[in-house]
Amino acid sequence: MQQKKLSIGLFGFGCVGKGLYDLLYKDDTLASIKKIVVKTPDKKRHSNFSTFSFDPDDILNDGEINLVIELIDDAAAAFIIVSTAMKKGKAVISANKKMIAENFRELLHLQKKYNVPFLYEASCGASIPLIRNLEEYYKTCSLQSLEGIVNGSTNFILTKAFEHKIFYQNALEEAQALGYAETDPILDTEGFDAAYKLTILTAHAFGKCIEPSEIFRIGINQLRETEFQYARREKLKIKLVATSCKDHEEKIYCIVMPKFIQADHPLYHVDGVLNGVVTKARNGDAHFFSGKGAGALPTASAVLSDISAIAHKYKYGYEKYYAGNVPRTKNDFFMRVMVSFPIEKKEDIQSWFLAIEESFYNNESGYFTGIISFKNLRELKSLQEDISIILFDVCNENFDINKVEIPEFELQTI
Ligand code: HSE
Repeated sequence: MQQKKLSIGLFGFGCVGKGLYDLLYKDDTLASIKKIVVKTPDKKRHSNFSTFSFDPDDILNDGEINLVIELIDDAAAAFIIVSTAMKKGKAVISANKKMIAENFRELLHLQKKYNVPFLYEASCGASIPLIRNLEEYYKTCSLQSLEGIVNGSTNFILTKAFEHKIFYQNALEEAQALGYAETDPILDTEGFDAAYKLTILTAHAFGKCIEPSEIFRIGINQLRETEFQYARREKLKIKLVATSCKDHEEKIYCIVMPKFIQADHPLYHVDGVLNGVVTKARNGDAHFFSGKGAGALPTASAVLSDISAIAHKYKYGYEKYYAGNVPRTKNDFFMRVMVSFPIEKKEDIQSWFLAIEESFYNNESGYFTGIISFKNLRELKSLQEDISIILFDVCNENFDINKVEIPEFELQTI
């Protein structure tokens, strides 16, 4: 069953590339690295690998190399490498979630046209086996929702802020030093990275290919100590949560937002650099996946697992995507949220809510909690920059706004 040993051309020797090299150096029964191409010639590299090359063609034009592993962080350059390798009939592995999410349809087309395997388990949740499970296990039971913490850096920062009350910037610097954060950490803190991963997971979970820019996204950089104080008082934690959820009409919404998590929720204990994903299937149970979501060896382990899968001739089948009954996008639903604001915005923020459940304000700032429509929330977010929005939950399909009891404010219509 197993084919001849794979000969690897590796692009990138950063945190993950070095991690993979170390793993394969210990055991090269499956595959061995023939060439490594890096971008910067004069960088000091702690490795006994003899010759680094700086010319991509050294790998792409090498007929003996049958597996290209792309572990660089420049998404545009990565796409050129990956697409060229596929056109040359080479199997490809990548961990570049931005590149995969932004070029998903084109990459599907290339895989089909050139009949080559392209695997990317390491792109989502690093060491957690998510993509192959979504692709294979959930082929036979219709998934209803997928909800998870898929960015290790922000979870690390949120955990530090919650537990140790240290400054956001210090926690971010620590996440960068540990190799968790992206080169441009805004990709982590503003939720872009989580949105790329949600694009990929949604395609494998539901067969729906959504552009990352279509995902409603709120990051963690607007969060302030008041919100953490609220969370501690109410025995909640704040996590950056990515959600794709399908309703009974086969409509789906995809959001990335800070969310209050209750103590009995599986994601409550997913702290630090850990990632966690909860899947719910219509006729099945809820499943909870958890593991290290960033870092050299966890990410390299997922790449190693892909190498093994390719050695056993595995490829993604994308059956849900090709089945033709892809869910439509859901744009009309209700959510329970907290919106915090500078005091001069109080009247304005209030007007966007359909029902306010709790309010607090002093001379400087305040917050409301209550029900808001997704449509209003999107508009509010686009108009106001200096507010913070945290989700309690999306209201379920049977929610009736007319039956909400409002303690203090009048109900307004959308
Ligand atoms: N910056 C990413 C994270 C790396 O923090 O999750 C792993 O994809």
